[in-house]
Amino acid sequence: MTLDRPLRYGMVGGGPGAFIGDVHRRAIALDPNTDLVAAAFSRKHESTLQTGRELLMDESRLYPDFQTMAAKESERSDGIDFVVIVTPNVSHFPIAKAFLEHGIHVVCDKPLTTELSDAEALGELVEKTGLLFGVTYTYTGYPTVKKARELVQSGALGPIRFVNAEYPQEWLATRAEQDPDNRQASWRTDPAQSGKVNCVGDIGTHIENLVSYVTGLEISKLSARLDSFVGGRTLDDNATIMVEYNGGAKGIYWSSQIAVGSDNALRMRVYGEKGSIEFSQEDPNYLKVFSLDGPQQILSRGRDALGERGDSIVRIPAGHPEGYFEAFANIYKTFTGALRKRITGDSPDEHDLDFPTVHDGIQGIRFVARVLESSEAQGTWIDF
Ligand SMILES: NC(=O)c1ccc[n+]([C@@H]2O[C@H](COP(=O)([O-])OP(=O)(O)OC[C@H]3O[C@@H](n4cnc5c(N)ncnc54)[C@H](O)[C@@H]3O)[C@@H](O)[C@H]2O)c1
Repeated sequence: MTLDRPLRYGMVGGGPGAFIGDVHRRAIALDPNTDLVAAAFSRKHESTLQTGRELLMDESRLYPDFQTMAAKESERSDGIDFVVIVTPNVSHFPIAKAFLEHGIHVVCDKPLTTELSDAEALGELVEKTGLLFGVTYTYTGYPTVKKARELVQSGALGPIRFVNAEYPQEWLATRAEQDPDNRQASWRTDPAQSGKVNCVGDIGTHIENLVSYVTGLEISKLSARLDSFVGGRTLDDNATIMVEYNGGAKGIYWSSQIAVGSDNALRMRVYGEKGSIEFSQEDPNYLKVFSLDGPQQILSRGRDALGERGDSIVRIPAGHPEGYFEAFANIYKTFTGALRKRITGDSPDEHDLDFPTVHDGIQGIRFVARVLESSEAQGTWIDF
């Protein structure tokens, strides 16, 4: 059965000058029939009103805070179907909890929470309520990443031996947080808003999730070193992590915000006994595939077959690049497809549920917790 009305969503965060809330709104709008109808875009009501007016929203649904929004929206017959949480990390937990407790489905940006116990509590609440919970690990939304996953699953690379994954950025190579206009730098380097870590939570979790999604490998233990290279900073701006997986494969992850010359250079190389793959998020329309007994290949999105799942989310022909917005949109298209089925009483299939869930979010926070534990113990190997 097809849902005969648009889905309705609300947003917490994403006020004037915010980064990712605007990206979420544009990504959701790439596909039809999901409308933004309610918000608490900021802790300041006048800022929420400003953004709401720019978006021509009904002012009666622009709320002073997320608690009021959750309560009021859950009372309406035309209340929101799901909420999008795009605030700094430390507030994800209370906001997600409030909406789940009011019976509203949730999409929350990563990292899920700042404490492992809070992440696990959200997992229990999702279990108890049966609500859908998506976590926007953006990079799993690329068709080439779906193909990478399919290649590993099919055994084309043979048993995996080693993973080399990195996410270097330059933007915190100086004390950017001292610039009053750079709010993104300021809260990420502030333990009160970012939690006990910065870099490894902000972008290290993207590595953990991408590798886990593509390879299916489960970390068994890790040894980590967190550094803060820029003077005056309490939280890490660089993380070096060795991992071992169940089954014996090994890996090395590096995330950095002081890597001069790098923008968002997330790259993953997976080495098996027979072949390897290389994915680079700054060139996401192509996937490099190598094998011991054949020529090297560069698969092109929209031109070459990317498998059933990968092909199903390609939007435009090869040579017209798709990118970050489309990766986000693919996660939302999948999440909202599953939600529509849930509302109409249909059963979502495997593809409908191919979006990062609260369990992926919990894994990310467990990863952060173990990295911190290891780093504080001078790199001691810690069981996952
Ligand atoms: N998936 C990705 O690729 C990706 C990329 C960037 C950021 N993020 C995540 O998105 C989140 C936001 O990051 P950002 O860079 O957009 O931050 P930002 O500082 O640009 O925006 C945060 C917004 O949240 C608002 N806010 C703060 N507390 C609030 C509250 N209690 N209620 C309502 N609004 C509140 C602020 O006013 C601001 O508008 C972070 O958790 C970050 O890790 C994810």
